[in-house]
Amino acid sequence: MKSYLQPFLIIFISKILATTDAFTVPSLKWESTTSIHHHAHSSTATILYSSLKEPEEQKSNFGRQSYWNECYENEREYTWYAGWDDIQPFFTELVPLKDSESPRVLLPGIGNDSSMVDMFDYGYTKMSAFDYASEGVDCAKDFFGDRDCDLQMADARNLVSYEDDSYDAILEKGTLDAIYLSGANDKELAAKHLKMAVDEMSRVLKKGGVVMSITAACADAVKDAFDNSEHWQVIHDGSFYVTEDGYTSNNIDATILAYEKVSN
Ligand SMILES: C[S@@+](CC[C@H](N)C(=O)[O-])C[C@H]1O[C@@H](n2cnc3c(N)ncnc32)[C@H](O)[C@@H]1O
Repeated sequence: MKSYLQPFLIIFISKILATTDAFTVPSLKWESTTSIHHHAHSSTATILYSSLKEPEEQKSNFGRQSYWNECYENEREYTWYAGWDDIQPFFTELVPLKDSESPRVLLPGIGNDSSMVDMFDYGYTKMSAFDYASEGVDCAKDFFGDRDCDLQMADARNLVSYEDDSYDAILEKGTLDAIYLSGANDKELAAKHLKMAVDEMSRVLKKGGVVMSITAACADAVKDAFDNSEHWQVIHDGSFYVTEDGYTSNNIDATILAYEKVSN
């Protein structure tokens, strides 16, 4: 990871510890009915297809949509954990670019990560990205400009507007961490939210497709969510990763997980 990002990672992890472990009384309730919220931050009427309550402000920052919207209102570009240049050797090995056509790639929770434009320009031109924070989608629209990237506001736990078996690969970076934190101190709820997101990934991915997850804050929980589902076979388990070309994962200050979807 670039050295100037290190302090942010430390702040991120320490804030997580402060917001998730300091409280013992679960405050969230699972809502079984689907509700549709009109998002206050969006200038147009944007619909969030979420059926889930958010944690209270003092219990989780990174698990709240409003937190991310506020972040992105104030800071239009920021890259968590590692940028495209660092990720590229690993991702390209897992999801090679073919001469004829780019693989279809989905980026959940793109936020204000402008390094994903470099990924598009590298050749992954069949790209879709979403975030549940409308301000993140607005940032992405700004930096993608007139590139043909499908950008939507969507909740990773309920991807109603995405079709089954439609992507060759998914690259997620820090989004599953944030989803786990949406359970705040209720670890069961956190794992449930994570399972929903991982199940949605398996639904929209083609059989044989690959998920690459770059996770730091909640790596064990993210790993469990994949390992506990029969849809996935592990390709990389988070241990030291060396590509055939000799790139090593020690530049990335986060865990790299990779899974292949083996069944529907
Ligand atoms: C740690 S940031 C990572 C942003 C970006 N991927 C990066 O690597 O710089 C987590 C992102 O996940 C988004 N997010 C959190 N929960 C989400 C959900 N349920 N659905 C979609 N996006 C979500 C947040 O809005 C935020 O943009």
